[in-house]
Amino acid sequence: MEITVLRESEKGERRVALAPSNLRALTDAGLSVGIESGAGEGAGWSDDDYRQAGARVEASREQLLSESRVVLGVRPPTPRALDAFPAGALLVSFLSPSDHDLSQELARRKIDGLALERMPRTTRAQRMDALSSQATVAGYRATLLAARHLPRFLPMLTTAAGTIRPARFLVLGAGVAGLQAIATARRLGARVQGYDIRAAAAEQVRSLGATFLEAELPGEAEAEGGYARKLSGTEEERQLQLLGEHVPKADAVITTAQIPGRAAPILVTSRMVEGMSSGSVVVDLAAETGGNCELSEPGRTASHHGVTVAAPIHLASELAQHASEMFGRNVTALLEHLVRDGELHLPLDDDIVDSILVARNGATRSRGDRDNNNGE
Ligand code: NAI
Repeated sequence: MEITVLRESEKGERRVALAPSNLRALTDAGLSVGIESGAGEGAGWSDDDYRQAGARVEASREQLLSESRVVLGVRPPTPRALDAFPAGALLVSFLSPSDHDLSQELARRKIDGLALERMPRTTRAQRMDALSSQATVAGYRATLLAARHLPRFLPMLTTAAGTIRPARFLVLGAGVAGLQAIATARRLGARVQGYDIRAAAAEQVRSLGATFLEAELPGEAEAEGGYARKLSGTEEERQLQLLGEHVPKADAVITTAQIPGRAAPILVTSRMVEGMSSGSVVVDLAAETGGNCELSEPGRTASHHGVTVAAPIHLASELAQHASEMFGRNVTALLEHLVRDGELHLPLDDDIVDSILVARNGATRSRGDRDNNNGE
């Protein structure tokens, strides 16, 4: 069975769905890999790197797709890009599953789709969790971005020219990306405070040597699957009041708060930014879902009252090699799970398949839909 890796078409996207180092596991499993010429270029891998790792490199996307059963991508494809897909292909990628139009488009063209965003948060699925691996990369990169914009040191320094106090970082949302941002800022010597509405995050934040800012909510804020729930109006007000006291004291605020299927909550208002000292920085990692900072403009970095507000949307892509290797390991683990004796199986009684299969045999579907067929 042939697996095809497409060259990403979205502007600014430098990742690729498989790195050369990922190929071995797939070829060992009896799968052959076809790569669209130039697919690894953004991450620094040439066609020859892929050939040496055992892939077939092809310039014609149509040619590759005509021979392939499984197509791997990173970003959701445009409807136009789907024109070249044969009916019966299986697309494995981030597919923005809340964008119903894309699932319908896949179904209309009889392309099956596995949306990596829907990977369940179970121990069994952990190796296949591309959202987590890419969030790890983005969190690390967010701290470096803040450090780059900050006209100050991060660590405490005692020099002949005086003592420099450590920078104060405040990280809002201590999930996968937030914890990595905290860990990176700590390694660089900053004094870090973490904040999350899930009580479970407190211990994880403290274990990284940061302090935890308590949300002081009346009830549990953790919803199904380990994600946060949406706060009530009163809870949101109380949250803004608390953050209003702490944001202005920070040299750098990194925001990562997300609620699945909803717009990101506003945690940093214009007023809070105005209260920060000149030269301070806000890095908003939730920009793709609307942003946690009122002033964020997705994809842009701007200055407001001397404070830099960065709302990057391709952050994982900036570390394209490791981001692609980690993404490649995630999809390789998924394929190892789905392929037996060289054949692909999509059993709906498997929790992983049931969760991520969004289009099958010409129909859209979501978790728990059994009426489509048995999925095999
Ligand atoms: P996410 O990307 O959905 O959200 C990021 C963080 O923002 C979360 O920690 C969330 O609690 C927080 N948040 C949401 N609304 C907030 C608000 N109003 N104020 C402050 N913070 C807010 O979540 P992520 O990072 O993907 O994961 C969250 C947790 O799920 C992780 O800490 C981990 O424990 C668990 N997880 C488990 C996995 C597994 O078992 N396979 C895989 C990935 C995550």
